[in-house]
Amino acid sequence: MSAGEKIVILNVDDLESQRYVKTRDLHAAGFAVIEAQTGAEALRLIEQHRPPLVLLDVQLPDISGFEVCAFIKTKWPEVMVLQTSATFTASEDRVSGLNAGADSYLVQPAEPVELAAAINALLRVRRSEDALRALNATLDKQVQARTEELEQANRKLREEVVQRQKAESQLLQSQKMEAVGQLTGGLAHDFNNLLTAVVGNLDLIRARATEPRIARLAENAFKAAERGSKLTAQLLAFSRTQKLATESVDLNRLIMDGYELLKQSLGANIAMQTDLHPSAPCVVADYNQLEVSLLNLAINARDAMPEGGILTITTACDATDDRKVVLSVTDTGTGMSPEVIARAFDPFFTTKPPGKGTGLGLSQVYGLVRQMGGDVAIKSEIGKGTSIQLLLRRSNVSTETATEAQGAAERGHAERILIVDDDHDVRGLMTDFLSDIGYVVHEADHGAAALALQKTVNPQLMIIDFSMPGTNGAEVVKAARAVQPSLPVLFVSGYADSAALEAAMGTAPFLRKPFRPAELASAVRTTLDAGGGSKP
Ligand SMILES: Nc1ncnc2c1ncn2[C@@H]1O[C@H](COP(=O)(O)OP(=O)(O)OP(=O)(O)O)[C@@H](O)[C@H]1O
Ligand SMILES: [Mg+2]
Repeated sequence: MSAGEKIVILNVDDLESQRYVKTRDLHAAGFAVIEAQTGAEALRLIEQHRPPLVLLDVQLPDISGFEVCAFIKTKWPEVMVLQTSATFTASEDRVSGLNAGADSYLVQPAEPVELAAAINALLRVRRSEDALRALNATLDKQVQARTEELEQANRKLREEVVQRQKAESQLLQSQKMEAVGQLTGGLAHDFNNLLTAVVGNLDLIRARATEPRIARLAENAFKAAERGSKLTAQLLAFSRTQKLATESVDLNRLIMDGYELLKQSLGANIAMQTDLHPSAPCVVADYNQLEVSLLNLAINARDAMPEGGILTITTACDATDDRKVVLSVTDTGTGMSPEVIARAFDPFFTTKPPGKGTGLGLSQVYGLVRQMGGDVAIKSEIGKGTSIQLLLRRSNVSTETATEAQGAAERGHAERILIVDDDHDVRGLMTDFLSDIGYVVHEADHGAAALALQKTVNPQLMIIDFSMPGTNGAEVVKAARAVQPSLPVLFVSGYADSAALEAAMGTAPFLRKPFRPAELASAVRTTLDAGGGSKP
């Protein structure tokens, strides 16, 4: 209601004279008035105009004033009712009026000032009630807003606590891995040295045994020691102390090259599928080691799907870090509990029965990837499956350049190469391949033969097995360099740990068995091109 607009009062009375007097008095007091003669008409006018106050005579021809009042209060509680009657003489009447919901009552005839004062008093009450209600509403709103603010702050706090706990447990986990890594690294080095001696001596015993029984025993011991060597190699991988031959690796190619082997290892029950990013950048990796890791992951997946399932190998660019490429191996197997996830990378942690798993697969994968500057993540849900993600460092070499480099410029130009290896098959393989691609190859199966041959051949490169029985590779090289001081040498070795080689030869070029012919070609080319200054 705008200022200056008059307040409307509904005056309900069937007696014209009384109605007239009241209307006149109301006009005089500054109100606007509408009139009704019956209860029904009154209700209709209220419905239509919603006057703030009804002046209601108790005696009406159709409905009793009390009933009209009760009806108003139920339907429009905000409309005030001032009852008037000449018969408000008995206190019961006043009581029933108030009980019916009337806000006040007035005995007729009333003085004009008394009527105006009564109405104004009621309107004042109504106004303060309204103000109170409005205040209440804003208070409610304020409390609600404040509660929401507090809830939000609380939520944020809880999130921060969770984040913090997560960061703390990540830190703990990485500290644990660091400590376990150092421990196993130290142990594995010592064991590797011991095993080298054991394997070497057993090999000699085996070769010299005249009695078949002794030869058999030596053979058994030799095999066990070799298994030990394999284990130490895995431990060395975990402790990140193995020597890596890192290069720029095209992941998609690595997966496609290994596809058949992987498929075979999975068995017929498991479907294998790939989802390869067509232009996934190359990564910095040791090709052979990464291939072994992929196989490890596939075998884990197979073991987790005894009833069969699907294995998916994916390459993708990391969404958050463009320096990383993600290689993931996902299965639809049993999944891992949070407890198993927390310990999965620990060396020797396995849930498999004795003889089925050593618990070194994932620790090896972890160590390798970390050593290559990447990271490993496990996402797994019990009953749904597992996804192991290797985040690998992208290399600056483009896929095309890497592929080209793998094929070109590796050929020989009749350079003379002296191959020294006691293993007949390996030696033959190297000789055949290197002759095929344009080198002139001479071979020797032990140190002394090699040194004798060197004098006649005057080689431009010596490829030598580091770990030969008798005189080891380092000693042969020393003797050869006494004759040709800057003879380039490429070592090949089956040992995962090259600590002994490094101790003997420093940072000599090195090729780990087993290698692919292309790797041999590339290593030979690189070593020759780097040159040792030897004259042809
Ligand atoms: N894909 C997977 N699904 C479910 N559980 C897995 C999966 N990969 C690994 N695990 C769990 O993590 C444990 C450790 O795996 P890890 O590869 O290190 O060892 P292993 O497979 O038990 O033995 P190893 O690999 O030396 O033969 C497993 O025993 C298994 O409980
Ligand atoms: Mg495994």
